[in-house]
Amino acid sequence: MIANFYMPTRLVHGPGALSRLPELVRANRINRPLVVSDPAIAATPFYGQALAALKEAGCDVATFEECWIDARLSHVDAQAERVRREDRDGIVSIGGGSVMCTGKGIAIVAPNGRSFADMTGVANFSAPALPMIMVPTTAGSGSEVSQFTLVKDETSHRKLVGGGPLSFPQVAILDPVTLETLPARAAAASAVDALTHAVEALFSSLATPLTDALALEAVRLQAGSMRRSILSDDMAARADNLLASAIANIACGNSRLGLAHTLSLPLEARLDLPHAIGVGVLIPRIVAFNAPVAPAKAEKLAVVLGARPGVDLAETVAAIRAALFALFDDIGFPTAFSPEQLPRERLAEMAEAAIPGLYGGAMPDRAVRDSDLIHQPGVRRTSVAQARAIFEQCYG
Ligand SMILES: [Fe+2]
Repeated sequence: MIANFYMPTRLVHGPGALSRLPELVRANRINRPLVVSDPAIAATPFYGQALAALKEAGCDVATFEECWIDARLSHVDAQAERVRREDRDGIVSIGGGSVMCTGKGIAIVAPNGRSFADMTGVANFSAPALPMIMVPTTAGSGSEVSQFTLVKDETSHRKLVGGGPLSFPQVAILDPVTLETLPARAAAASAVDALTHAVEALFSSLATPLTDALALEAVRLQAGSMRRSILSDDMAARADNLLASAIANIACGNSRLGLAHTLSLPLEARLDLPHAIGVGVLIPRIVAFNAPVAPAKAEKLAVVLGARPGVDLAETVAAIRAALFALFDDIGFPTAFSPEQLPRERLAEMAEAAIPGLYGGAMPDRAVRDSDLIHQPGVRRTSVAQARAIFEQCYG
């Protein structure tokens, strides 16, 4: 296998990093930025200070502070038109995944002059995106180190994915001050999502020693800091949490996401299950499923989770499961689906709907069979019947 590792985004991280925003904006030749955010973040002191610092540095700043739960196609296209009209030369996104995805969508659409809906897929645009500075305010989505953006089309209710090597953010600024106002529940959800990104990167058939090194360190850092980051005001733990999320996403950006994200997708699309709940509840079961074909990785995972690898694989898998469950319990995150969240009578439908996966696989053009494979890059080939069995393990 010829592997490729690409990560052009500059990371500036640590307590106080946000104070570097004006010089990083200038270093990227941005003089007239559009600052993208949401109403909750726009009300925080650190946001106000960041805006004031940009203006003090002589930037002609415009703002869009109306992002909502998902990045929206109407916002992306309209703000891109505004950027062209006002001759804006860069995007500063301050917020969680939906804010960063909105900013990235605007940065792609503005110089390409077509709706984002016409540029979905990988690298389906020719002009480089506008320079982007990302300031994540949750430790989870990884959009700050990703070329891709996920945008919801409100009319068709579809989630559109687009991006390519020309849409990596120039800079990600990771400052733990941005996590201060994040509610514990949201912090737990994003931290678990980031943890699953690292674990998925590890158990990918496209993983390399380089992505493994990043994934394992991301798990170690995340597992070691998550409790203190969420349950106390520990700034050092929050800094670790933010960095772990970025590292996890650099890993999975290069080795791709596996079975947990693939099986969660139909639950999110058809049952409105929140993303973090879907992947978080699935991940211990997915590790158990993958471990027989990647036992060495399971052992390494146990170690970085602070669990003791067992005398055999079954014990190691049990130790990983116990460590994950203990972590989830401590931060108030669920370890199982309720029958209301995932109705048993819909398990077969969910397993079949998972077939196309995250990366554009197709449904068979005949009735689905139990032996049909789910399109996903995980280390273990997975049939529809196996996917159904994994779902069945997710209750209680
Ligand atoms: Fe995720």
